[in-house]
This record gives sequence, structure tokens and C-alpha cells, in this order.
Amino acid sequence: MINERLPKIWYGGDYNPDQWPEEIWTEDARLFRRAGIDVATLPVFSWAKLQTDESTYDFSWLDRVFELLQSNGIHVCLATSTGAVPAWMATRHPDVLRTTIEGSRRKFGARHNFCPNSPTFRKYAALLARKLAERYGAHPALVAWHINNEYGGSCWCERCEEAFRAWLRRRYSSLAALNEAWCTGFWGHSFSDWDQIVAPSLLSEHLTGEKTVFQGITLDYYRFTSESLLACFTAERDAIRAAAPGVPITTNLMGTFKGLDYFLWAREMDVVSWDSYPSLDTPVNEVAMRHDLMRGVKGGRPFMLMEQTPSQQNWQPYNSLKRPGVMRLQSWQAVARGADTVMFFQLRRSRGACEKYHGAVIEHAGQENTRVFREVAALGKELAALGDTLIDSRVESRVGILFDWDNWWAVEMSSGPSIALRYLPQVSGWHEAFWAQNFPVDLVGIADDLLRYDVVIAPVLYMLKPGVAARITEFLQRGGTFLTTFFSGIVNENDLVTLGGYPGELRRLLGIWVEEIDALLPDRRNSMVVTQPLGGLAGSFECGIVCDLLQLEGAEVCAVYGADFYKGMPCLTRNTVGKGQAWYVASSPERRFLHGLARVLAAGKGIEPVLRATPGVEATRRRKGTETFLFVLNHNEEAVRIDLGPRQLTDLLERKPVRGMVTLPAKGVLVLKE
Ligand code: GLA
Ligand code: ZN
Repeated sequence: MINERLPKIWYGGDYNPDQWPEEIWTEDARLFRRAGIDVATLPVFSWAKLQTDESTYDFSWLDRVFELLQSNGIHVCLATSTGAVPAWMATRHPDVLRTTIEGSRRKFGARHNFCPNSPTFRKYAALLARKLAERYGAHPALVAWHINNEYGGSCWCERCEEAFRAWLRRRYSSLAALNEAWCTGFWGHSFSDWDQIVAPSLLSEHLTGEKTVFQGITLDYYRFTSESLLACFTAERDAIRAAAPGVPITTNLMGTFKGLDYFLWAREMDVVSWDSYPSLDTPVNEVAMRHDLMRGVKGGRPFMLMEQTPSQQNWQPYNSLKRPGVMRLQSWQAVARGADTVMFFQLRRSRGACEKYHGAVIEHAGQENTRVFREVAALGKELAALGDTLIDSRVESRVGILFDWDNWWAVEMSSGPSIALRYLPQVSGWHEAFWAQNFPVDLVGIADDLLRYDVVIAPVLYMLKPGVAARITEFLQRGGTFLTTFFSGIVNENDLVTLGGYPGELRRLLGIWVEEIDALLPDRRNSMVVTQPLGGLAGSFECGIVCDLLQLEGAEVCAVYGADFYKGMPCLTRNTVGKGQAWYVASSPERRFLHGLARVLAAGKGIEPVLRATPGVEATRRRKGTETFLFVLNHNEEAVRIDLGPRQLTDLLERKPVRGMVTLPAKGVLVLKE
């Protein structure tokens, strides 16, 4: 349980009372109560109001907010307010300002605007966190800590450059090791002094923000940046723990956000929380995958949905409204995939600046008679009625998809084989194949235990870190089914190619070696022709992006290319290792193929879908001890008929027994106790 003080699915969101005159606060509290809101996250961006200069702090207004919320039965997720530095700090201590990849030092402005290695920022941020902890750490309304906000971005200032050199010294110990890891013999880049090393930017190795001519250097800068920001988080966290231990600490993550290695971050967080902002056309499976990732980074523990909009965003090009029922459906989707909170950005819509057209529970009209408010209040009631029934239950999966940030970075900074090769779509393609058929699926870190799974999919496992091949071998020996794809096993953790034939250390396991990699022009396709009955996967399927030309070394051929000079060469292989099977998919196939192969792999391990239903109906199961809960979500625009089977179930939202065929309305939700 996130905090026993509030043993239910938390309901609330970001609240910015300091943007409003105090008369409004009382009205806010009344409306919150009406909406069933029981948690307010604040003050996320109020540093300038809490600390007006080096030594002057003013918590009096926050005291009053606490009092008001507490007296209305509303809990506080207390933010440390360090997500935007105050103007006085930027003026007096310019080291807090970031330097861009082009090399220009920013002026005061915007937010998330601090240099992660600024001593001033680290000092004052930790100090503010400590002061807040001393003042509110024992407050009965406090239920969680929210540090900073959506950490991200990078800095290329000289202080960061200096810190990068120190980081490199720790990582490599000697310049010889660094020169070797970065392959600095290339273009005569060898370093003879640590001071010669500069941050990779548009002034040095970069062609664009993403494209670099020295992947090893840039990869290390990504790692260094993720760790630098993480050090900002842990500095505040430790200050809070020292002053007032016991209340869970989080920071809001952003799902499939590329900049930070969230597996490393999650280790430092008591509970993971994240902000989900799909637009009208974001595929439902993408949202599901982000939830699965946010559950996965903390080994399957329940997470917090920290922010979502009740209606629309302001920062997208076209900020569509959520259609009636969709906010509820998306909230339940989060819970279905592991969330124990449903929270919004924000509770009252801002009057000015860029978020004035961002949706909120209380709109500019300032009252409860709106569609959005009614939908929020209805969900509030639904969640309150469930009490602690669902919280702490776990999603269980026998299929794991490997996800690795270093790998993501390396794949996408690679110069060749194809700019069409992006990591997320590859992961998402496999995830969707399991998701669409309601096979439970986890996203798993490269360092996590694979033996928990029966099937492990490693899409584009380009970078093979030390020890990973051995762990995959053990997984296979014990009978696991492993699948990997083209552009896997190519490099080590420094982006240095493993010599002796691709896929390097995986070569023996897969029983193949890849001699050449062809990149297909955007309008070109090849095909994969299945050559042996695989039970559910037969025929010919389109493929593209890249085609590996591979040689067999023990694996059996399951499909061959249908065209080009490599027509007839293998493109899907299966190798037996110990009691397990290792599959290799040599090109990027169409969706139908992924669906078929997912079915073949699941069937091979006796894995059943949670529910067999029409497309667009998502079903998951959460388990708590001996109790299991079935969630059924109809993402379609029409009602669907669903067969719940002969067992008697309890509909927890309608509080009535159900079984057999039921009708689920468009955007409808079922939460069933089995
Ligand atoms: C992010 C931030 C919030 C707010 C929302 C708007 O998630 O954390 O402060 O800006 O976006 O969508
Ligand atoms: Zn910096």
C-alpha cells in the first residue's frame, strides 16, 4: 500500500492555490469534496513563493492550504517545488542556468531549467526539501512526497563538462581504457589528457541533437545526464528522509521518455508515479505499453497515475477533448495495468500563461455544472465505493519483453543501417501482438530476473551488456522460449562491435550467423514465407526496414524471404537450446505475422489469454493473495457482446453477480471479482 493513511485508490491531482486569491480556495475545497477528490499534489512550482531570497522562507500560505485541505478530508502529496528555479536565484547565481547543445547559456525563463550539476541548485533544492520535511513531515494530511517535476533535458555547461570528466575517470580509471572503449583510433581522436575531453554537443561530435559521429562518447553523456539528474532527485530524497522518514517518496516519470534510464531511477524511488497524456489518436496499445513499462521499472509493483488531463491538453498541436466516457475508460485502463491512484493535471484551470487552455477538473466557468466535472465526480464515487478492494493487487505475466534504455539510445544514435529503425515501434509491435490478444505481458529490465517468465522477447537487442547472454542461456536451458530479432547482439555496452559474426554472443544460442544486413528503401517490402506448419502461422507476410542475410549453424528454418537476390534464404529460425527454444526474426514483419507468432509462442507454453474477445476489448487480471480481479475495457465506438464464461463473477462497479454473455457499452468498463 502506498500509504496506509489513505487505503483506497487515490483520487485527485495537481493543485496550484498560489495562483489564486485565497477566497477561491474554500470554493475549491467544496468542489473537491463534491468530486470525491481526496489527494491534492502541491506546490509543484512555487519555489519563488516559498523562498524569496537566500535566507527568507515563507510557509505561512502553505500552512493555510494544509489546514483547509485537512479540514475537508483531503490529503496532500507534497511537492518540493524545485521544478522551476526562482528568478532571484538565476540572477544571483547564474550557475543554476542550463547551457544548450548549441553552447548558449540560457537566461531565466520557462521551467525544468536548472543545470543538474549546479552546486547552487543542488544546495538550495535539498535545503528547501529539508525545510518542507521539517515543517510538514509529520502532518497528518501528508501521504506522499513528490520531488521536483518530470526530470529531463540536459546541460552542456562547463560545470557539467567538468563533472563528466570526473564521471569518466570513475568509470574507466585510465585514459587507455577510455580510448579503447570509445574507439578513439577512429578519426585520430585519442586523448592524452582528461582535460581534452569535452561534452559531446553541436560544437563537438554532434551533427544534430541525436546524430553523433562518436556513439561511445554520446552514449556516456546520456548515462551521465541521467545519473546527474538522478543525483538531484536523491539529494532531495535524502534530505527528506533525514528530516522526516516514513512517508513514500516519488517523482513523476513520463512513460516511454527517452532521456532517463527509469530502471535505474525506480530503484531510488519508493513508489513509481507517471504522467499519461495520450492524444485523441494515440493508439490504445501504446498507452497500455507505457503503463506496463511504468509497472515494469519497479518489478511489477503498483504505480501511481500522477497526472492525466480530465479533458484536453494545451501543448499538442490539436488539443481534442476526451470524448464522453474516455477519461473514465483511460483511468480504469491505468488501474487495470497496475495503477493504485488516478490523478489529474490539474484541479483548477490556470488563468494565464501557457496552460490556461489545458483541461482541469474546475474549468474557467468555475463551477460544477460541466460535463468534465460530472464525469470526474462520477468516477470519484466509483473509486470511493471500492475502498481498498483493488489496491496492492498485482498484474501477473508469463511473457516478458526486454526493455533497455542504453539499448534504445544506442540503436537510435547509430549511423546505419537505416534511419527507419526506431526502438519503440519495434518494442511496441511485439507488445501490441500480445496486448491485442489479451495475453498478459510485462516490460522487463535487462538486469531483471528472466526466470520468472516462460517467454522472453528481446526486440532489437542491439547492445548486449556483460552477463546478459549467460542469463539468456540459463533461461533457455531451463526450458524458456526466447525470441530476438534483426540488429541484435551487435555491440557491447560501449557500442563496440562484437567481432566474429553477428549476433555476437547470441550466435551460438540462435544457431545462426548474420553475414550482411540490407536496408530497404521506404517504399520497398520483402516478404517472409512460412515454410513449415507452425500452428496458426502460415502463408506469406510483408516485411521491411532491414533484412538480415543469415547462415544456418544448427537452427531450423521456419520462413524464407520471398523476393530479391536473397529470395529463399532463411528469415525466421528456431534453435533448440537445452529444454528451450531460441527464435530469430531477421526482418521487421507486418502486424499479422507478429500476432500469429505471439500465438504460437504462447501456445507452446500453454499460456491462455485473460479473455477471448472482439478486437478493441482489453482484458487484464490483478491478483491479491487468493483474490483475483478481472478488468474488461471496451475501447470501441460500439457496444460489444462478451462471453464471461460459466463461472459466477461479481461486478464490483454495479455490485451484482454476472456470468455468461454480457453487453459492454461503447467505452464501457467491467471490474469483476472472480
Ligand atoms: C506535465 C507537467 C505538468 C503540466 C502538464 C500539462 O505533465 O508535469 O506540470 O505541465 O504536463 O499537460
Ligand atoms: Zn550544466
